[in-house]
Amino acid sequence: MDFFPGFISLAAAVLAGLLLLATCTRAVLIRSSSSSSSRYPPVAGTVFHQALNFRRLHDYHTQLSRKHKTFRLLSPLCHHIYTVDPTVVEHILKGNFENYGKGWYNYTNLKDLFGDGIFVVDGDKWRHQRKLASFGFSTKAIKDFSGAVFRSNAAKLAHIIASYADSNEKFEIQGLFMKSTMDSIFRTAFGVELNCLGGSDHAGSEFAKAFDASGEIITLRYINVFWKIMRFLNIGSEATLKKKIKVVDDFVYKLIHLRIQQISSTANDSTKNEDILSRFLEESKKDPQNMSLKYLRDIMLNLVLAGKDSTASTLSWFFYLICKNPSVQEKIYQEVMEVIEASEDAAFDVFSRNIIDESLNNMHYLHAALSETLRLYPVAPIDNKVCFSDDILPGGYIVRKGDIVFYQPYAMGRMECLWGEDAEIFRQRGGWMMMASSSLKAPTSSQPFRLVRESAERGGL
Ligand code: HEM
Repeated sequence: MDFFPGFISLAAAVLAGLLLLATCTRAVLIRSSSSSSSRYPPVAGTVFHQALNFRRLHDYHTQLSRKHKTFRLLSPLCHHIYTVDPTVVEHILKGNFENYGKGWYNYTNLKDLFGDGIFVVDGDKWRHQRKLASFGFSTKAIKDFSGAVFRSNAAKLAHIIASYADSNEKFEIQGLFMKSTMDSIFRTAFGVELNCLGGSDHAGSEFAKAFDASGEIITLRYINVFWKIMRFLNIGSEATLKKKIKVVDDFVYKLIHLRIQQISSTANDSTKNEDILSRFLEESKKDPQNMSLKYLRDIMLNLVLAGKDSTASTLSWFFYLICKNPSVQEKIYQEVMEVIEASEDAAFDVFSRNIIDESLNNMHYLHAALSETLRLYPVAPIDNKVCFSDDILPGGYIVRKGDIVFYQPYAMGRMECLWGEDAEIFRQRGGWMMMASSSLKAPTSSQPFRLVRESAERGGL
């Protein structure tokens, strides 16, 4: 509700910006084309064109990427370099990993909501949180706990969907996925039942709405060069953001305090403390200087963000694609029934309890269909790294300290030069689906995931 007026004020700010900065951009264009332009990536437009194409931003970037694998959008402050070239992506995420990071640009844009969390920090803080997260998720207790939580919420979701199907009623499936993953990730992270799916917890639902809204508004900062002025004047989308973040903070701090009390009253019963927050609170006793309440809040909120939208949006696109490809749907159904060995009329909770790691590992066709979904609709459609010191990209383009390199999994997944002529469609037979049908294993990851994982390993994790 508050998002729309925010968007109007943003649009007004952007239009004013276009007029004010047209002259300045023209000057930069002339300068960049007259001096050493051959060594910089070609210019495909300005950052302001993104505001004009806001509703189709990823398709706009894809369109530009078809003309140039690596290009620049002019910006008043530094070069914004966009790429779909795998060798460049490999260079920034792996080959020259230490020279690229989230940097001041992402930190300044996102810190009001995400604080010093893993998505916005570099260096020691990033390493610290990677270690905490991998330690947290690798303990058997947390794995078992989160598995049970996700399975039980999946069964609740299946009940709700089945009742809509029985009554032949329309419903918005992405909303349900968001609620279900929010419940699961929150329970795993904080040990608390939000019950967004059931809608019984008012404070929990308000938190979830405020968290989603603030996530949307804060992303607008990437295309609104006036956001700092708007924040200073406390107007438009920035005023709304401030209010939403307060709702988020009040809720999270209350939970952290509650959990601290609960843990001290169940000191001898570690089975009651299977959630991630409890593990981190234990850690904070060893390192009270660094693990402040604010830092804990930041770590936890970043985890919720990482787990919730990624899972829910992938599920939404997956269902969208299998609805458009009924024969794929049928094959997945056959595979799942075969591997789970459940009868057709098994209750949802019994069925979901039978889904264990081993059975998931045997669902090759499902895995391939999910990989194909992530190729077309990756959870991070675009991501960026700031260059820390002057560099030359594979292919010879210059990157200066402070320039921002955007790599684009969405556009990469649709490049004919990378995937062949049918790159834009969900391939029922080609690529991974064919490998899965012939019972070869589907890939464990697409290139962006592999590179993100490898970059983490290079970070010593
Ligand atoms: C469909 C499910 C998921 C997919 C496809 C996915 C994919 C990704 C990708 C592509 C990134 C890299 C983004 C970047 O570097 O900016 C990422 C980062 C991350 N993901 Fe996931 N993710 C999923 C679910 C989860 C879940 C359930 C959690 C745990 C709660 C999680 C935790 C994280 C964390 C902590 C990071 C940050 C890593 C870092 O910056 O070093 N993800 N994920």
